[in-house]
Amino acid sequence: MTEAYSIATKDFSSVISQKLSKVSPSGIRRFFDLISSMEGAISLGVGEPDFVTPWHIREAAIHSLEKGYTMYTSNYGLLELRHKVAENLESHYGLGYDPDCEILITVGVSEGLDLALRTILDPGDEVIMPDPCYVSYPAGTILAGGVPVLIPTYQQNSFNIRAADIEPRITKRTKAILIGYPANPTGAVMPKEELSKIAQLAQRYSLLVISDEIYARLVYGTQHSCFACFPDMKEQTILLGGFSKAYAMTGWRIGYAAANHQIIEAMTKIHQYSMLCAPISSQMAAIEALRNGENEVEAMVREYDKRRRIMLKRLNEIGLTCFEPKGAFYAFPSIEVTDMSSEEFAEKLLIEEKVVVVPGSAFGQCGEGFVRCSYATSLANIEEAAHRMGRFVARARQRHAPNQGAGGASSSP
Ligand SMILES: Cc1ncc(COP(=O)(O)O)c(C=O)c1O
Repeated sequence: MTEAYSIATKDFSSVISQKLSKVSPSGIRRFFDLISSMEGAISLGVGEPDFVTPWHIREAAIHSLEKGYTMYTSNYGLLELRHKVAENLESHYGLGYDPDCEILITVGVSEGLDLALRTILDPGDEVIMPDPCYVSYPAGTILAGGVPVLIPTYQQNSFNIRAADIEPRITKRTKAILIGYPANPTGAVMPKEELSKIAQLAQRYSLLVISDEIYARLVYGTQHSCFACFPDMKEQTILLGGFSKAYAMTGWRIGYAAANHQIIEAMTKIHQYSMLCAPISSQMAAIEALRNGENEVEAMVREYDKRRRIMLKRLNEIGLTCFEPKGAFYAFPSIEVTDMSSEEFAEKLLIEEKVVVVPGSAFGQCGEGFVRCSYATSLANIEEAAHRMGRFVARARQRHAPNQGAGGASSSP
């Protein structure tokens, strides 16, 4: 019998599944670890609201604990919450999901995504997704035994994935298209006409679409298009929704999946053996969020929009050109003028000016040349960060093109 690991050296690398060697740790977290020890640093790196969950939502959870609700729920989640989710999808999009069998309450969209991928993929099955995209899409696909097929997207197309680019990449092994709009990291919102072409493609090739709509409520001056609304797409779409972003509930770990009943039943099979159910207090809080949280969602969206406009203006002023992000809470400016890689830019900016941004390369090859700046932080922080970034960019441009002189470098505030 070969020894699985060396007790003498405490080297456990040989016991770790080979699957994991294909997945790198998230490029986002590294920068958070660096900032924690740095005084006076400003983070534009965070992917979560800077608001605290509205009080009445917290209170609903506290009351539920006081009343002794401390037990497991149904694997599918509390029926009342599933009813509320169904009502919400009906009132926003006119979609009719059966709360008994077409909705599963998950531990965040993160679990919904993992369940969706593990439910539909056999080893070697391919999942088409945009590049750049949310870090969990390729990693989750690999961990589920699948193969991510990345479709390049570009700033000039507002980082939208186009049906014409998808079609040539469809093979016999393609099982699904995985999209997430409004998008992390770009803030892109896909126009309805473009999404509709993807829906037609999915129909033509009988592909499932996993649609991560966690940022659905965070759109500015535009409408969110729910993918399941396209003709005949409700049955072919696994719709993932959550509470983390719209209701500032990241720490509660609560979300949902809505899909055809056979898919939901299969997802629930994995969920019941892994998670069992989402935490009951979080489910109680989510019921309250859907019942009475609308005013707060709208107030937070107004505030994000204000910050978005300022950030966009400042980034463009300092020479980091940025297309207008219409959703989520991210801007994704080009750093081309600095002649640095996104990793180098982020690292130097942190060391020299104590501002955290996330290198675009953390989200895929097509993210290279860009950085993700989150505006889920105060206006004062955004102004100060832009000021520091302006100085940084001016210096970089001077180094990059010394003959142009500092004057041509920037109009930094
Ligand atoms: C696009 C996207 N999907 C899913 C998630 C995870 O959401 P949750 O907190 O519901 O697990 C995130 C978190 O940043 C995200 O940006």
